[in-house]
Amino acid sequence: MTTDYANILDSYTLANGVTLKNRVLLAPMTNFASEENGEVSEEELAYYKVRSSGVGAVITACANVTEDGKGFPNEIGVYSDRLIPGLKRLAATIQAQGAKAILQIFHGGRMCPPELVPGQEPISASAVPAERENAAVPREMTEADVERVIEAFAEATRRAIEAGFDGVEIHGANTYLIQQFFSPHSNRREDKWGGTLTKRLSFPLAVVDRVRAAVEK
Ligand SMILES: Cc1cc2nc3c(=O)[nH]c(=O)nc-3n(C[C@H](O)[C@H](O)[C@H](O)COP(=O)(O)O)c2cc1C
Repeated sequence: MTTDYANILDSYTLANGVTLKNRVLLAPMTNFASEENGEVSEEELAYYKVRSSGVGAVITACANVTEDGKGFPNEIGVYSDRLIPGLKRLAATIQAQGAKAILQIFHGGRMCPPELVPGQEPISASAVPAERENAAVPREMTEADVERVIEAFAEATRRAIEAGFDGVEIHGANTYLIQQFFSPHSNRREDKWGGTLTKRLSFPLAVVDRVRAAVEK
């Protein structure tokens, strides 16, 4: 090991006072292991149990904040209060191994397979399909959809807190909805949510603001 990583196993205290036992994190990895209805499964709990003991924190696989944000089969759901009991077991399983538990919250936007979302109709910033073979043309989100999804990120955060998670991570990368608003390819809107770089950042920043408010409540 080079000296660059000499302190990787030392504890680390975050600005908010939370201490991680070391500086190694489990990256979020979608594993298709939960129930079809979004509930955390026994298989999911077993997966995290064996991966949580050595690390300072675990970031879970992405969890969809709305039903129309489901990007993968057997994804963890965080879109309804009925999912809180399973999420509680997930947080407790990770924490029992000495790691902090961070739930990754997510909306797949136009990358959601049509068969996984209500009405088989993925949504996105604009009605532009991804440049991938057989990509579905999404429905452009209305102003009400935009507000609904922002609020869903806040509600997902409230549920994560109720379930005992130490934190949430907003999934803003890898071609999903937040990035779809940022990208001029997928965001062709002419209202306040699209256009200039600043306007294309309005949705990502609104999500961050609302999640922060939910954490501080
Ligand atoms: C099977 C698989 C599933 C992944 N799922 C997620 C995910 O749910 N959320 C996320 O932010 N990144 C996800 N990623 C990205 C990883 O967290 C990581 O950022 C990426 O693999 C780059 O790290 P690496 O170079 O060490 O592989 C996934 C990667 C893989 C290989």
